[in-house]
Amino acid sequence: MYTQNFNLKNYNTFGINVFAAQFAQANNLNTLQQIVADNKNQNNKLLILGGGSNILFTQNYNGLVIKNNLLGINIVQQDADFVYLQAHAGEPWHNFVMYCVSHAYGGLENLALIPGSVGAAPMQNIGAYGTEIKDTFYQLTALEISTNTLHTFSNTDCQFGYRQSIFKQQLKNKFIVTSVTFKLTKHNHNYNTSYGAIYTELQQLKSTTPNLQNIAQAVINIRNSKLPNPAQIGNAGSFFKNPTVPNSIYQQLQTQFSGIVGYAQNNNQTKIAAGWLIEQCGFKGAQKGNAGCHAKQALVLVNLGGATGAEIVQLSNNIIHAVQQKFGITLEPEVNII
Ligand code: FAD
Ligand code: EPU
Repeated sequence: MYTQNFNLKNYNTFGINVFAAQFAQANNLNTLQQIVADNKNQNNKLLILGGGSNILFTQNYNGLVIKNNLLGINIVQQDADFVYLQAHAGEPWHNFVMYCVSHAYGGLENLALIPGSVGAAPMQNIGAYGTEIKDTFYQLTALEISTNTLHTFSNTDCQFGYRQSIFKQQLKNKFIVTSVTFKLTKHNHNYNTSYGAIYTELQQLKSTTPNLQNIAQAVINIRNSKLPNPAQIGNAGSFFKNPTVPNSIYQQLQTQFSGIVGYAQNNNQTKIAAGWLIEQCGFKGAQKGNAGCHAKQALVLVNLGGATGAEIVQLSNNIIHAVQQKFGITLEPEVNII
């Protein structure tokens, strides 16, 4: 069940060449509980790995890496209007979204083509194109590592926010998500085309009446046009979060920097497009050693081939420094740096 000194290069989408002291794959709940029990005796450090698409390894992992491979999609409940669909943590996220689209279950179509696993999706409340999972999330089950028992978390329990949940805060490293249930529409779908590029893309597709299929396809096309495919260029999507500032600060910035891009939020805050800030500092398309800033999307840092995690971190620190100097804003990494 356990492999020693396991190479993780193909298990993280940055493609960083590091090793785990111990590696185990869990294909079912029993195996997962066995691994957790064994590990308790050994008192090892433990890292749960899904698709490795939101992780940057900066060194070898001196502990146990558990790859969560729990599979299965099933209906747990339904009524006239909604289906409560459960997906196990190891299901690839995009496949699950396309399963929903093909079964005419509405709610996740704007989240097509996000890499990674279902189990990791609640960690940072994944979001794109005007939707976050919190909008359709019903509940999840997770294994508490200290007691090896299963617990259920409701939407409120998860304390979702922008790229945020309780699992990145108070409960960090304490639970392993085993399944997630979504409440999806069976008809009267609530199509979300508020994100301008979707509407433009639907026009390109010559299908301006939105449906689940064409929205998913529009999102796939938009993503392919600007985000690097990790199979070709190592990356973990947006490296930083979009920073949120009080409206008063944003208004000051607008007077100094006329093209600044921001989105009004609740409670007098504005979310600023970090990609714009980074581009203004001259990093778009820049390279430093084997690390780079993507030429089509400055928020995405890339491994140009053979980069170490330290090289990527160095580039990210240079970006943080430059953005801080020019705009007085401190960017926060979105990627989990290990
Ligand atoms: P991993 O990278 O394996 O893990 C991420 C974190 O979650 C780690 O801390 C890990 O320990 C923990 N974890 C993983 N599985 C479990 C589990 N079962 N239980 C407990 N903890 C767990 N994200 C977005 O929100 N929106 C986007 O639009 C988006 N676009 C992307 C585009 C590209 C090209 C790439 C490469 C990434 C993008 N991401 C995006 C980031 C990433 O895909 C998501 O964060 C995804 O949910 C990560 O899933 P994963 O299985 O790869 O997680
Ligand atoms: N922009 C620039 N230069 C750039 C990149 C962006 O000026 O190089 C400006 C443009 O004005 C653009 C705006 O920023 O219109 C927003 O860019 P984009 O639509 O690409 O979205 P984003 O804010 O950069 C966020 C998420 C993505 C998500 C998209 C789509 C974060 C940190 N990132 O990116 O999520 O896919 O919106 O909704 O919130 C991820 O989390 O890994 C991720 C890819």
